[in-house]
Amino acid sequence: MSLPAAPRINPSILSADFVNMEADLARIAGADYVHVDVMDNHFVPNLTFGPQMVERVQATSPVPLDVHLMIDDPDRWAPRYAEIGAASVTFHLEAASEPIALARRLREIGARAGIAIKPGTAPEQLFDYLDEFDQILVMTVEPGFGGQSFISGTMHKIEQLREQARRYGSEVWLQVDGGIQPGTIEQAAAAGADTFVAGSAVFGASDVEGAIGDLRELARAHSHSPH
Ligand code: DX5
Ligand code: ZN
Repeated sequence: MSLPAAPRINPSILSADFVNMEADLARIAGADYVHVDVMDNHFVPNLTFGPQMVERVQATSPVPLDVHLMIDDPDRWAPRYAEIGAASVTFHLEAASEPIALARRLREIGARAGIAIKPGTAPEQLFDYLDEFDQILVMTVEPGFGGQSFISGTMHKIEQLREQARRYGSEVWLQVDGGIQPGTIEQAAAAGADTFVAGSAVFGASDVEGAIGDLRELARAHSHSPH
């Protein structure tokens, strides 16, 4: 099965209606992945849902799952999400004890392996390990809540990772998450991001399908090379 081409738009169900999830998932059939934010109230000061809910989303979603784990001890919990069938499982570098071993385990189960860094975490420690991951998520807000403002000071991290990926011929996807909307997605695309999470900008729009299309067009117009 071929993977969706860049630019990829992954709506976050954190901004969906939790008691009408099936209907809200149907509204994003035109997206590339559905972004699923798992929060444990320890790694971040917010709580969402766990594997039981993700299993139902997996069974219901018209598009593959891009799971973002904002949890402590992903070494223990992340493989479960790959076993459920999530196409992509991203855990935080700040929370993992053995990130490389965990990424290998996720791939072994059959998921794409992603690693996320918070706004205050430097990307350099990932430079030598690009091949171990399928996706690097550079958080563009402090993780925990939807609807926050984009931190443009994180863009140099995307630029550095893009440069590093180019230099070593890595095909790792560079994802941004937080405050992505018309007016900010352009900067992220220009910096080299190819995969865009958007919660409030998609589910807050009256025309959800149109909002996804608009974001994709803006990203396409501002990214300088296809990756
Ligand atoms: C925040 C989550 C995001 C969130 C983004 O910690 O990881 O995925 O849903 O929401 P917006 O797009 O509204 O900033
Ligand atoms: Zn997220």
